[in-house]
Amino acid sequence: MCGIIGYTGVKKALPVLLDGLAKMEYRGYDSAGVAVIHNGEIEVRKAKGRLAELCKLTEGDALLDGNCGIGHTRWATHGQPSVENAHPHLSPDGRIALVHNGIIENFAEIKNELLQKGYPFRSQTDTEAALLLICSHYAGDPLDAIAASCAEIKGSYAFAIIFADFPDRLYVARWDSPLLVSPGYAASDAIALAGKCEDAAFIKNGDIAEITSDSVTIYDRALHKVDRPFLPLAVRAEQVGKGNYSSFMEKEISEQPAVFTETVVKRISDGNISFPEINNFDGVYLNNLRKIFISACGSAYHVGLCGKYYFESVAKIPTEVEIASEFRSRDVLVDKDTLFIVISQSGETADTLAALRIAKEKGARTLAIVNVRGSTISREADYVIFTEAGPEIAVATTKAFTAQLGIISLLSLYFGYTKGTIDQSGLRSLLHEITAVPAEIESALPELEHSKKTAESLKDAHDVFFLGRGLDWYAALEGSLKLKEISYIHSETYAAGELKHGSIALIEQGTPVIVVATQPSLYDKMAVAAAEVKCRGAQIIAITAAENEKLINLADDAMIIPEAYPLFAPFGAVVFMQMLACECAKLRGFDVDKPRNLAKSVTVE
Ligand code: AGP
Repeated sequence: MCGIIGYTGVKKALPVLLDGLAKMEYRGYDSAGVAVIHNGEIEVRKAKGRLAELCKLTEGDALLDGNCGIGHTRWATHGQPSVENAHPHLSPDGRIALVHNGIIENFAEIKNELLQKGYPFRSQTDTEAALLLICSHYAGDPLDAIAASCAEIKGSYAFAIIFADFPDRLYVARWDSPLLVSPGYAASDAIALAGKCEDAAFIKNGDIAEITSDSVTIYDRALHKVDRPFLPLAVRAEQVGKGNYSSFMEKEISEQPAVFTETVVKRISDGNISFPEINNFDGVYLNNLRKIFISACGSAYHVGLCGKYYFESVAKIPTEVEIASEFRSRDVLVDKDTLFIVISQSGETADTLAALRIAKEKGARTLAIVNVRGSTISREADYVIFTEAGPEIAVATTKAFTAQLGIISLLSLYFGYTKGTIDQSGLRSLLHEITAVPAEIESALPELEHSKKTAESLKDAHDVFFLGRGLDWYAALEGSLKLKEISYIHSETYAAGELKHGSIALIEQGTPVIVVATQPSLYDKMAVAAAEVKCRGAQIIAITAAENEKLINLADDAMIIPEAYPLFAPFGAVVFMQMLACECAKLRGFDVDKPRNLAKSVTVE
């Protein structure tokens, strides 16, 4: 996923562009660039690596003092990170510059046709094919050229384009990759516009917009004017700062009690749960459901695994879970009697969006659990429930994960009560337990010092193993992903009962094994699993409650969390693993918020 920003107005463009890119760098950070119109010419500056390199390159550059420009921060898809492949791309005659987020699937055919017409390519990117296609159609009217080009393009795109012939205007177009517009501004992410404008509109697939300092004119792909709703920005400037924390991830870990309260607890009152978004999910519908099918990626997939546990144990609804990219790889059994749930923080993950579309084609009722308002998945699903995690800047998700997990666990109670698998008193009891989760998360946060000590013992490890059973297996999967993606320490998670069927051969003297045990009914079995690896030399790090003396006595290091209600117990364990991963990354000197090779949302397949 890349970050796009455009500005045209009375201010100097460069500071606006660099500020917007700084707020969007989490979307991708292989390279960055700007293009600014200066005295009728387009000046382009690009740098490989972090945005700081571009800031150094452009500092004091007198040719960049125009009032209209575009900027881009890249997560490479076609062509390695380099200055040549960085955006903006500039036309051979220097009269048009373009930035792009998405993938042009038919760029090879477009490129071949343009090469035959003599257009020179300077990069390996698919984006340059779009730029030169627009050049090939341009005869003085930007809208005509853009419309003609978009009609030929297959794939996903958000374009921001400037034309030297129109030095006070921005042009944008989108298909599947998000784009927001407001007078004077265009951006791929509301975060970039925080503090710059109050309202903005998401343009729709096929839309093309012309932006001046005080107007936005939106057209459909036939160039008929259309109206799109302008809504207050869902992001405020103060939300996109680190506060007193050294990283966004640490700030976002600390926000989890409040996020859980805002997302989950606020939906509970007088022993009832409020889900107005799905009012027609009544008992008849839920009792006639053949199954729930959950599809997502990464951490959201781990939430889906917990969802299966919740929906089957509480609401007695058969539930399947599949990684979205795999879901697309086979003929899945999804039909009108399936409730298809997609989970996505960004609401833009390409594989998850594709799975949603397949499920809709198969007639399933679709429900999205999403954090970003206006996102593509939130707009294409039949029903959407928004988590209230606020903007999540760190690439490794923490508060959004917890919010998603909170919603899906609350949903299982709602479905159970609606179906009649739990009665009013049972519901009241479960609601009492779930409203205790913020306090349980809060009680895990002071273990930060402990996580620093444990991180010291892990920071030089080559392989770390995570073990868990049931919900703890899924929590351990999330803990392992956190460790891998920000500290770059290789780790694997095993269902505790499965390790002995082969992989235990990997255990040797000093191998760190993190044992997640929050389920009292499984304490004994987890102690057996821990003993099996300890006798083979493993260093046991337990995450469990004080009552679990058997495991604590076996452990070399024990993180004690409150013994919470089993259904909701993993929340505290996950928070400790988030902090542990963060501390390992810091000890190893890595950027906690922007891990190498990653981007906040993978909007390409
Ligand atoms: C989480 O730490 C990862 N960065 C990644 O696995 C993420 O959860 C996944 O890409 C799904 O993103 P989404 O929730 O925005 O769809």
